[in-house]
Amino acid sequence: MSKKQYYIKTFGCQMNVYDSQRIVGILETLGYTPASGPKTADLIIFNTCHIREKAAEKVFSDLGRIFALKQERLAAGLDTVIGVVGCVVQAEDEQIAKRAPFVDFATGPLTYHRLPEILAKIGRKRGQTVIDTEFPAESKFDFLPQNRSSGGCAYLAIQEGCNNFCTYCVVPYTRGIECSRPVEDVLAEARRLVETGALEINLLGQNVNSYHGEDHAGKERNLAHLLRRLAEIEGLKRIRYTTSYPADVDDELIACHRDLPQLMPYLHLPVQSGSDKILKAMNRRHTSGDYLRTVEKLYAANPDLRMSSDFIVGFPGEEDADFRATLDIVNRVKFIQAFSFKYSRRAGTPAALMPGQVEEKIKKERLDILQNLLFSYQLKFNKDSVGKLMPVLFDMKGRHAGQLIGRTPYMQNLHAEIGKEYMNKIVNIRVTEATTNSLSGKTEG
Ligand code: SAH
Ligand code: SF4
Ligand code: F3S
Repeated sequence: MSKKQYYIKTFGCQMNVYDSQRIVGILETLGYTPASGPKTADLIIFNTCHIREKAAEKVFSDLGRIFALKQERLAAGLDTVIGVVGCVVQAEDEQIAKRAPFVDFATGPLTYHRLPEILAKIGRKRGQTVIDTEFPAESKFDFLPQNRSSGGCAYLAIQEGCNNFCTYCVVPYTRGIECSRPVEDVLAEARRLVETGALEINLLGQNVNSYHGEDHAGKERNLAHLLRRLAEIEGLKRIRYTTSYPADVDDELIACHRDLPQLMPYLHLPVQSGSDKILKAMNRRHTSGDYLRTVEKLYAANPDLRMSSDFIVGFPGEEDADFRATLDIVNRVKFIQAFSFKYSRRAGTPAALMPGQVEEKIKKERLDILQNLLFSYQLKFNKDSVGKLMPVLFDMKGRHAGQLIGRTPYMQNLHAEIGKEYMNKIVNIRVTEATTNSLSGKTEG
């Protein structure tokens, strides 16, 4: 009998990308192989995101298409198991059972290590959705197989969950309270990744700089300690961490940006708004002044460092003056990349019930203005890169033969006609052209 094939589709943040890689690890130990697409898959998994309404609704519309596919396969005598995992499940388990009863199993982001038992259960009784949305006592990381091999760039989750409860955000409800992995576990996983080819590791957490994992002696250690330990791993050339919370950037972490050449000179530090009134209503524990002071300290520690950020426009109560304060902080920090969103009202979060909800039309106008400004700084930074020699880690094939895509230290995408022998290598590239979203370049000589 041929091996069973899986297809997994990932929505949402980098943590979900990491989780999907770990799920693939589980499936491979169970003997599954990757399918070329959903049509040939015996098992289809959606790893879902609940952060904004659009993200969550997309899951349900895509599931409708998968149901049609399941019917087609059934008509041809083929069985298809459909699973939904991730943040939508944690928040809307009942909705899934109601709106997509053809789903065979649904597990939250903290219980997917139980997949082998869940799949076995489905084998025994079909036609009922198996749901697991417990916040488990055990850590999934202790139960996942260690068979993940890596390309040049790898993600490594070191912390999960969030205790910040920003008033707009679902994450504390979907990923639970903050939990850090022990230092030695992180180091062991990092070493394995480097042994299998990783040159760059991106440490992940919903609030990664509140990391407080225990060391071998049971002592709690912070992110700065972890970064210094990781920097000792031979062969690990680049380290990044994301996403950080501004109020938790401390002096020890800033010193790492001064001392560790492996730490890339690029930091994603979401500010969300430039207005102190709005930041307070968001329950962010920083003012715009605090944020600017942190950025100044970071620039002093490493003058080459550049910032990226996340923004929300149209938060309840946001007036023109508040929005102008957001534009003002962009003009001060000159972020080189950013994600910006219209506020999305999420059931169960405090902001959903706040007075002063902003009209959709105004949200859209503000988002357009903000994005134009952000893109202008992004384009300027990219244009200023032309003529520079930059170390680029190539990890993706480009559209045509011989073309590879890689990343500069500043997370810019760079395309080069360079030949596949440079895949998963760091190469010095002279930047020749720049647009808002990418660079092109050539090797010297
Ligand atoms: N833990 C990270 C990322 C959270 S989600 C952090 O604290 O930054 C990524 C981004 O989505 C957030 O930074 C925020 O800008 C945006 N976001 C979260 N909830 C949102 C909502 N209800 N509406 C619009 N954007 C939201
Ligand atoms: Fe959400 Fe705020 Fe936590 Fe980020 S810090 S995950 S925005 S609650
Ligand atoms: Fe989305 Fe969950 Fe990540 S809601 S952004 S997948 S933590």
